[in-house]
Amino acid sequence: MKKNIRIGLFGFGAVGQGLYDVLKKSEGLSASIEKICIKDPTKSRKLPSKYFTTEANEVLEDKSIDLIVELIDDAEAAYTIIKKALILGKSVVSANKKLLAYHQKELIQLQNEYGGSLLYEASSCGGIPIIRTLEEYYDNESLRQISGIFNGSSNYILSQISQKNVGYAAALAEAQEKGFAESDPTLDVGGYDTKYKLCILANHSFGLIVQPEEIFHAGIAHISSLDFKLAKQRKQHIKLVAHGYKLPNHRVALWVLPELIGADHPLYAVEEENNAVVVEGAFSDKQLFLGKGAGGHPTGSAVLSDISATTYDYKYGYKKLNFGTSKKLDNNLAIEVYLRYNSPKVLEHLPFLEVADEEAGRVIGTTTLEALLNAKQVLENDKAFIASTGKISPVKQQKVLTQFRKRVGVH
Ligand code: HSE
Repeated sequence: MKKNIRIGLFGFGAVGQGLYDVLKKSEGLSASIEKICIKDPTKSRKLPSKYFTTEANEVLEDKSIDLIVELIDDAEAAYTIIKKALILGKSVVSANKKLLAYHQKELIQLQNEYGGSLLYEASSCGGIPIIRTLEEYYDNESLRQISGIFNGSSNYILSQISQKNVGYAAALAEAQEKGFAESDPTLDVGGYDTKYKLCILANHSFGLIVQPEEIFHAGIAHISSLDFKLAKQRKQHIKLVAHGYKLPNHRVALWVLPELIGADHPLYAVEEENNAVVVEGAFSDKQLFLGKGAGGHPTGSAVLSDISATTYDYKYGYKKLNFGTSKKLDNNLAIEVYLRYNSPKVLEHLPFLEVADEEAGRVIGTTTLEALLNAKQVLENDKAFIASTGKISPVKQQKVLTQFRKRVGVH
């Protein structure tokens, strides 16, 4: 049965204020924000000062507050808050993808042990209700792949550059102004934010929990006009795409890379701050979920839905995690990439199985996720831009190493 809910809110930034607006207009939900814990008491706020405190315990230990809504961008501070709230038996709604990516296993255990609910629909793909869809709708269907555009800021920047000829720095500044970007936008354009969301969705799609460091990711920070020119020649768009791809024997490959995609691809026309998730089920085949991936109101709407779900004691069942055989991450996947590098030394660190096209400063060829992960720092130091062409296949590691030795002349 539905009950009235008294909320202790942490953070009053773009999403916190979005939630405040959304809650005010919600017709069916009886919920009130009782206290808001903020970091900076000197900032001017649109609510009276009686709502605000800088003391976390004042909110956490208030027995009249039954739900903690955590919307701050500091993952470590959020970890302390959520852990304490769960241990106190309170339910928690969070939008903090980084915190969840790193600590989901422990937080799920705490939730089970102390009885509160931990819900986080807003952590992944803004207003798209993907987590509950995976948990409830696809609970008994094995998924072949989940992929998509999970970062609104990067997609906004790519759209502004390719569709409206805006420069990279100006497009990023716009994404920040509109409240899409993280306080540290490196997390958006560097592909980290997308990877955190992939970690969360890998749990709900495949029952696989991994640490972010185990996954290869690259972002759009080093993209240049040369890359857009190539995409145009190929009649393709560049999108920052996350993939979770099921391999034989209960293994799953996960990666985040800009991707060159053609007009027949479901993500081709996803523009601005929109996100999209393509779910490929064993029986349902491909389904596309599309919607606003960032911004106060769309994200606030996902938080609202979680708040509402706590009123009927909803908890994620972690059905894929709890049923069936345990899954393993496998980076042994061959992937064709377009690599534009600054120093040819990069090639000494990145083995290729096959090279389809090569000219000074760039190569299109097949490597593996494992090899990319090993070369991550070298690629980053070089400020190289790397994008997938979308061609993938399982591979035997030995073959890559042999090819690598041949290529760089090691015997
Ligand atoms: N910075 C994130 C994005 C916010 O741009 O997608 C939503 O998680």
